[in-house]
Amino acid sequence: MSQDRTSSSDTFTVTDNANGKSLDLPVLHGSVGPRVVDIRKFYGETGCFTYDPGFTSTGSCASKITFIDGDKGILLHRGYPIDQLAENCDFLEVAYLLLFGELPSRAEMDKFDHDITYHSMLNEQILRFYSGFRRDAHPMAVACGIVGALSAFYHDSLDFTDSFQRLVAETRLIAKMPTIIANAYKYSIGQPFNYPRNSLSYAANFLQMMFAVPCEPYEVNPVLARAMNRILILHADHEQNASTSTVRLAGSSGANPFACIAAGIASLWGPSHGGANEAVLNMLMQIGSKDRVGEFVKRAKDKEDPFRLMGFGHRVYKNYDPRAKIMQKTCHEVLDEMGRHDEPLLQIAVELERIALEDDYFVEKKLYPNVDFYSGIIFRAMGIPVSMFTALFALARTTGWVAQWMEMIADPDQKIGRPRQLYVGAPQRDYVPFDKR
Ligand code: CMC
Repeated sequence: MSQDRTSSSDTFTVTDNANGKSLDLPVLHGSVGPRVVDIRKFYGETGCFTYDPGFTSTGSCASKITFIDGDKGILLHRGYPIDQLAENCDFLEVAYLLLFGELPSRAEMDKFDHDITYHSMLNEQILRFYSGFRRDAHPMAVACGIVGALSAFYHDSLDFTDSFQRLVAETRLIAKMPTIIANAYKYSIGQPFNYPRNSLSYAANFLQMMFAVPCEPYEVNPVLARAMNRILILHADHEQNASTSTVRLAGSSGANPFACIAAGIASLWGPSHGGANEAVLNMLMQIGSKDRVGEFVKRAKDKEDPFRLMGFGHRVYKNYDPRAKIMQKTCHEVLDEMGRHDEPLLQIAVELERIALEDDYFVEKKLYPNVDFYSGIIFRAMGIPVSMFTALFALARTTGWVAQWMEMIADPDQKIGRPRQLYVGAPQRDYVPFDKR
């Protein structure tokens, strides 16, 4: 058994009431977390499929990267609690941890930092891809297109069976993503692209590429760079969510890494996932003032009304999202720095949080603010437009996607992903010609 899946004599017995037959299924134990029933032989032994839309009870892989205990509000990367990483690390230190399993030594850090820094430029030919997009294209559409197009460019790092090529692709993706995203923004506002500055940290360099203009010097504000560093860490990985599972599923067929990450970006875009930070801000603007919060909370509870409180609830966390707590603190630091504490949207957000946390509906359903609830307000205070919010999430999550993709490729148990289905369509029937229908 690979990936340290510890099997034991533990079994889980299922009985088929239709024929009275019982089947003992092996139980796997991870290092922490619930027991896992191994159903790989289930169909072969019983002739039945299992049914689990949305994978609410189904593990798709074994992983050593991230652990979440949603009931307790715990998030660990390689065993380290997210708050300790967010407080103490540079983003690239966390990236190294996610990719290689351990915190780097000083020498390992310097080498990794150097490798990422010296791959951050985009080939000039790639810069020309941008002009094919409309100026008002959504940055996520641009990101999908440019990242997918990298596979039409870097032919020397497409072979997923070659560990060196995988490493080169990983370095390129993490290094170039800030440049790709910042360029999408610059293109949308008609400003020239900025080249990466190697003397800056990953987060500070991204801010520089976003906001510098060639006609005047640009100094990165250290408070904003610290906040950006933290935001990147908080979004770096989150176990087998929709976009990560998409990356793994795309990669399971042997697709090249750039194509897999482009697939992840597409999956992240939806408002139930990474698109929620954009949706939160749009919702706060729609609410418009503190005294209308109650009206929107009422709408969110109404089953007839499709409106949901964006930034609330999570598939896994049934407690406060640990990332949201750190985000709340960062939000106040940024608003202090920018002198925007009277920001009306923040006041609406605070009122919304207060009412929702006291409301029986939200309390009973364990709907707490998630990471996206505050990130939008921080981005707005930094001067980042709403349409860029999800693209920033994609920038941070690229590291997690790459780490998960690398882990999947190295897993001897890896197979092409191929879910089964419960077919509820017409049984076999004969073709009817037009004149007989
Ligand atoms: N506002 C109002 N009601 C809600 C909300 C919400 N934000 N979220 C869930 N509910 C209700 C839902 O109507 C359902 O009620 P009932 O049991 O009476 O039918 C119950 O809570 C369970 O909801 P669900 O949709 O079955 O839960 P899920 O685990 O499938 O969905 C979710 C999780 C994140 C998609 C959902 O909570 C949601 O749509 N939240 C708003 C969007 C959002 O903030 N997404 C960001 C997620 S965090 C970032 C990331 O990791 O991508």
